[in-house]
Parts: sequence; C-alpha cells; structure tokens
Amino acid sequence: MFKTFFSVGGGYPAVIGSGAISELGPAAAGAFPGGKAAVITDTGVPREHVLACRAALESAGLGVFVCSIPAGESGKTLSAVSDIYGFLLENGFTRADGIVGLGGGMVGDTAGFAAATYMRGTAFVSVPTTIVSQTDSAYGGKTGVDLGCAKNAVGVFSHPAAVVCDTEFLKTLPERERVCGMGEVIKYGAIASPELLGGVSRELPCDETVFTCAEIKRRFVEEDELDLGSRRALNFGHTLGHAFEAASGFTLPHGQAVAYGMLAVTRLGERLGVTQSGVYGAIRSACERAGLDTSWEGLLSSALPLTSHDKKSDGSFIETVLLESIGRPIRKKLPPGFIADERNYKSS
Ligand SMILES: NC(=O)c1ccc[n+]([C@@H]2O[C@H](COP(=O)([O-])OP(=O)(O)OC[C@H]3O[C@@H](n4cnc5c(N)ncnc54)[C@H](O)[C@@H]3O)[C@@H](O)[C@H]2O)c1
Repeated sequence: MFKTFFSVGGGYPAVIGSGAISELGPAAAGAFPGGKAAVITDTGVPREHVLACRAALESAGLGVFVCSIPAGESGKTLSAVSDIYGFLLENGFTRADGIVGLGGGMVGDTAGFAAATYMRGTAFVSVPTTIVSQTDSAYGGKTGVDLGCAKNAVGVFSHPAAVVCDTEFLKTLPERERVCGMGEVIKYGAIASPELLGGVSRELPCDETVFTCAEIKRRFVEEDELDLGSRRALNFGHTLGHAFEAASGFTLPHGQAVAYGMLAVTRLGERLGVTQSGVYGAIRSACERAGLDTSWEGLLSSALPLTSHDKKSDGSFIETVLLESIGRPIRKKLPPGFIADERNYKSS
C-alpha cells in the first residue's frame, strides 16, 4: 500500500493500493464526528463496491446512508446536487456528518461540490473507482458541475479530508473505460515522466503507477493550488481535446479526445520549433500500446473551429500547453487564428 500527504487545504492523506478500502472506516470516523456518512455513488458503480464501502464505514461505527445519482456526464448537474442536498436534509445530516464520494470523476466532482456547499461545508472523503479518478480527479480539490454544454461551469476549490483509492475496484471497469482512462496516465507520463510514458500498456495500471500519477499531481497542486500558473500544465492535450469532444457531439470518450488533443498539440509544437523531434512518436506509441485510436488528423477540420470557445482564452490568446520534450511542459499564449489553422498541424 502507498501513502502520501497533500499539504493543501487542511492537509489530507491519500492511501493507494489493493485493499485500501480497509482505511476508509478510520478516515471517515475521524472526519465525521457526527457519526453519519452519506455514500454518494452513481447507477453504474457495481453494487459490490457500494457494499464494501458500507461495510468499511459500519465497522467504524458510522451510520450509513446511500444515494445513487444517474451515471454519465449528463448527471453532473445542479439538479443532481439539489437531489443530494434533499437526501442529506431528509436524513438529518448536519455539518458534523460527512459525505463519501464513491465512483469516477463525475461522482467525485458532483458529490465534492455538494459537500463543499451543504450547510457551508461538510467533510468529504473521496473513494475513486475509475482510472481517471484514481490517477487524477480525486486529488487537488476541484469540484463542480456542468451547466448544459459548459463543462465545470459552476464549482469551487474544496479539498477532501482523505482519499481512499482501492485499486481492486478498477477490475470491474468495462474495456472502453479502461482504455480511455489510460489517456490521463499518458498525459502524466508526457508532462512529467518518460518512465511512466514508456511503461504504458493495455494492462490496468499497477498500484505504483496510480501512486506515481497521484504524486505528480500532488507536486503541481502544492506548487499552484488555485490553478493560476504551473498547475495548468495538467491541461496538456485538453484545449484541442475538448474541441474533438465537442465536435463529436460529446460521443467521443474524454480520454480518447485528450489522446487526439495531445497528438495534435504536439504536432503544433513541432511546427513552432518548440517540441523536440521524437516526442510525437513517443506519445503516439504509448496511445497505441494502451489501445487508444491515433487517427486524429481526419477529425481536425471539424474540431478546429471549436477551439475559440476554450476557457483558457482571454480573447486575444489561448494559453496552450506544449512540450519541449517528454517531461518538460511549457505554457505558450497563441493567437486563436494560429491554433485554428489546419496547415499548422501538417507533419514536416
Ligand atoms: N476534478 C478534477 O480535477 C477532474 C480531473 C479530470 C476529470 N474530471 C472529471 O471527471 C469526469 C470523468 O471521470 P471518469 O472518467 O471517472 O468517468 P465517470 O465518473 O463518468 O465514470 C465512467 C463510468 O464508469 C462507471 N464506473 C465507475 N467506477 C466503476 C467501476 N469500478 N467498475 C465499473 N464501472 C464503473 C460509472 O458508473 C460511469 O458509468 C468528468 O466529469 C471530468 O470533468 C475532474
């Protein structure tokens, strides 16, 4: 089992590995002095994980109440948050009780936001169950929901009291979630670790890989908690990735879209003379080994017109993360017209 500690917010531990669920009871009992835990999960999380979570909480003497919200990005709404508030009120939750978010990034973001705002803030313990959430979204305190097509348009920074990351839970993931989840692991390798990138395969990430991603995220979050500078390197591949996602009418899975985005922006970096040769090939090879599709070029013309809607745009420039080499991200302000020009993505 791996353990680390995030020294942001009130400071919190993250426990990572097979069997980590045994740490949930003590972590939640310490954080929820009122004695009640609301497990917020979604309809796609297998029942066995809900039962394991319930058993761990009950063994620590907590009263457990389970609330399931609709699975999928379309469930990440203010209406779901409102349902959670109603559930907490009905069951007499006070600020001294707490919320456990059991699921992927969708549940983590939604339940974390509900916890941050219910009665001006109640404790939250995150139990991530997907590759994206175990390697990335469970850490760092970004919570929130979408407003229609505007992703994460409402939210707050609010850190959990603990993250309990049992890697056994990944074994029930469907193939598509496994493959697409690796998109975020590749991103961590690309921005911070040639070894991590080189080790990517079609297998589920091992405990050490999940821990390595969490440690990379910890370093970025501790350096720039509010995402005002260096933490933005974590957006590598996301400006173009979101455009690929939007161009598909949000049918393209997020991890696949980010993989396309990383490849496209690397080509752009080569074109600008910022990115060393060989970087594109290393990222493409990792995507292929993970089982991700790499044929982004045919989708480019429909995606590029959508890049101007990017949140990182200040009207004149879009802040874009490029790589100088594997492990060396650099942020550059580029004119929207340059990013939207298809000629800049041709291989030289
Ligand atoms: N807060 C952050 O820093 C941050 C970072 C990255 C992504 N995100 C957000 O995370 C979300 C995507 O997260 P995701 O990729 O985990 O998707 P997700 O949470 O939508 O989960 C994907 C699917 O897997 C199912 N599932 C979850 N755990 C399972 C398991 N162990 N076995 C079988 N099925 C399981 C879910 O029910 C769902 O149907 C997006 O909303 C994104 O915006 C947030």
